[in-house]
Amino acid sequence: MSVVTRSSFLAVAAALSVQVVLGQDIGQPGFTALYDKHIPYNQIPYQVDPDPNATRGPQAGYNICNSTTATQTSECQTMIFNAIDDFCLWSSPQPDQPISDTEAVEVAWCTSNKYGARTIPQGTLTGVQFLTTPDYIEMIAFINQTLINLPADDFGGELDPHGADLRGNPMGGLVYSTHFTNDSSLGQVSDWNEFIGGGQMCIKLCNPSSPNRANLCENRYDLIGLSFNCPNQAQDNVFETCDSDNQDPVGTYTTNGQVMTWSQPAVGPITTLPYSVRIPSSSNCQTLQSTDLYTSLLAVASPSASGSSGASATPTASGGAKTSGGSSGAASRTSSGGAAPTGASQGNAASVNGVSAFATVFGVLAAVAFLA
Ligand SMILES: *[C@@H]1O[C@H](CO)[C@@H](O)[C@H](O)[C@H]1NC(C)=O
Ligand SMILES: *[C@@H]1O[C@H](CO)[C@@H](O)[C@H](O)[C@H]1NC(C)=O
Ligand SMILES: *[C@@H]1O[C@H](CO)[C@@H](O)[C@H](O)[C@H]1NC(C)=O
Ligand SMILES: *[C@@H]1O[C@H](CO)[C@@H](O)[C@H](O)[C@H]1NC(C)=O
Repeated sequence: MSVVTRSSFLAVAAALSVQVVLGQDIGQPGFTALYDKHIPYNQIPYQVDPDPNATRGPQAGYNICNSTTATQTSECQTMIFNAIDDFCLWSSPQPDQPISDTEAVEVAWCTSNKYGARTIPQGTLTGVQFLTTPDYIEMIAFINQTLINLPADDFGGELDPHGADLRGNPMGGLVYSTHFTNDSSLGQVSDWNEFIGGGQMCIKLCNPSSPNRANLCENRYDLIGLSFNCPNQAQDNVFETCDSDNQDPVGTYTTNGQVMTWSQPAVGPITTLPYSVRIPSSSNCQTLQSTDLYTSLLAVASPSASGSSGASATPTASGGAKTSGGSSGAASRTSSGGAAPTGASQGNAASVNGVSAFATVFGVLAAVAFLA
């Protein structure tokens, strides 16, 4: 099904040789994979991966992030991801850096400065859907990625806690959420991924106690992009929270009642859609106003205005029909135990993704030979 062109073959061959070199780190004395580092939030060290012998160099940033590091040059590599109005994402540290060049050194950008990281600039988030599913939480966003240091034409890539040297991308990146703990404390989440580029992004955190966590937070399907890894019905200019069914594990699909699997080929680009992806049903969607949600984003002075101060926030939801009443964007989580929508969900019906997925396939391909 896939067509191998010469240039893509060379790119992948180069990637594979890098992979072999990086793989040498594994098994060195004292080596522990990032995925296996289990660190309570109150015991985070300055860096989780300070090893000077790491083939990719020591960790670029740090994991202890506090008020002194809460600047726009923060090198914080600890992500907090709680709710539609309370999260961080990974993006590049310097302007105009494509993800493919910087996956090892991405830093956290957050919806406020309270986590000691950079603050997302106003105008970055132009549409956000936050899904709570039985086994994971997920955010899909439409973004102006130039505001978080990505080139406008970067189709981006995938970040996860593995990588060819098992040190993670970013190296030493830690992820915490209150969502899966019983007492609202921040608990570490070891199964996660982020796709970013092409004006969209998706972050998924799988429940640490779910037996499906590794399948649903897969990191091997980087070439087929966001619409296969995060099948969704998010829309630009809409800000909403929904409950949702789980998606199918990436690479798994059902045809004529039979469950089939697809594996990403080791070489070559994927030039045709590998399969039709099922978009999970969602329900209980609440439409919110970005001006209510994102009150702490970094004000960006408009070029014409002199001086500082609040350029007005991101566009508000254009349809605007179902503004949620009193809840003003609090976006509290639903209990993950009982919330699985059962039976008749009145939300959006599942459907099959077509053209946009195709565009994404090409987009992601153009980008990167990723090291899973
Ligand atoms: C780095 O490599 C040097 C030389 O092999 C070794 O002596 C040192 O212990 C290593 N450092 C770590 C932190 O593993
Ligand atoms: C704040 O974070 C920086 C960078 O990680 C660290 O060096 C410093 O010790 C921290 N300060 C406190 C009070 O924890
Ligand atoms: C993205 O932000 C930049 C910087 O503010 C702006 O020049 C550009 O027009 C924005 N892009 C879109 C598509 O709105
Ligand atoms: C939360 O409570 C449930 C039910 O008592 C338990 O199964 C689960 O392990 C707890 N989770 C954590 C993170 O402590």
